[in-house]
Amino acid sequence: MKTPTARVDKLLGSMGYGSRSEIARLGKVGGIVLDGVDLTDVSKRIAVTPDLPSRMQVDGRPLDPPAGVVLILNKPLGMTCSHKEDGDLVYDVLPDRWRRRDPAISTIGRLDKQTSGLLLLTDDGDLLHRVISPKRHVAKVYHATLARPLAGTEGDVFAAGGLVLEGEDKPLAPAELEVLSPTEARLTVTEGRYHMVRRMFAAVGNHVEALHRERVGGLVLPADLGPGDWRLATGAEVEAIFA
Ligand code: URA
Repeated sequence: MKTPTARVDKLLGSMGYGSRSEIARLGKVGGIVLDGVDLTDVSKRIAVTPDLPSRMQVDGRPLDPPAGVVLILNKPLGMTCSHKEDGDLVYDVLPDRWRRRDPAISTIGRLDKQTSGLLLLTDDGDLLHRVISPKRHVAKVYHATLARPLAGTEGDVFAAGGLVLEGEDKPLAPAELEVLSPTEARLTVTEGRYHMVRRMFAAVGNHVEALHRERVGGLVLPADLGPGDWRLATGAEVEAIFA
């Protein structure tokens, strides 16, 4: 694939560093450095290569990653997956500047405010659709803590597929239940409907008290991320989603 190029002012503008005039001013005062040399002419076109953050500094700090980012967040309880609702939002964990990026960074699917665990974010629309499309069968694995002991029949009901959630017409695809204790289960689904896991357990007469996402595809929530922590996904981690 041909390496994309961009004007420095346009590139930095799309990464939230400021308006074109602010970036021009920053260039003039030596605030933009590429390969150790001050980049004063911000109309210059440069190759946008993945190694740019290690070669370019803005205001003395490494450039943010250019478009094509995938982030892994260990979503804590109480944060909403929304750009504009009131209260604590998952986007609040990112640097302010990242909210002004174009293309914008969005969550890959959503987790409820009261669900914790593995949440992916990206500015890559194709990747987002590949992960959430039910046709791709990317597994989403949840650990559920239940209000009442399991009856023993839930696994068969979920595995058969065809369950119709309240208020919907379209039956669910088969899902896999692993019983961990009388009130704990691991549920693997390949769809992403609204409050899906909670509504599945409600459909079999139970109630989810706590819900945590452990895995998306072959990507397990990394052990180095505590609640609220995030980092860029490595190439291998992105591949693992589809493994
Ligand atoms: N199912 C739910 O009920 N909630 C989530 O956050 C994810 C799946």
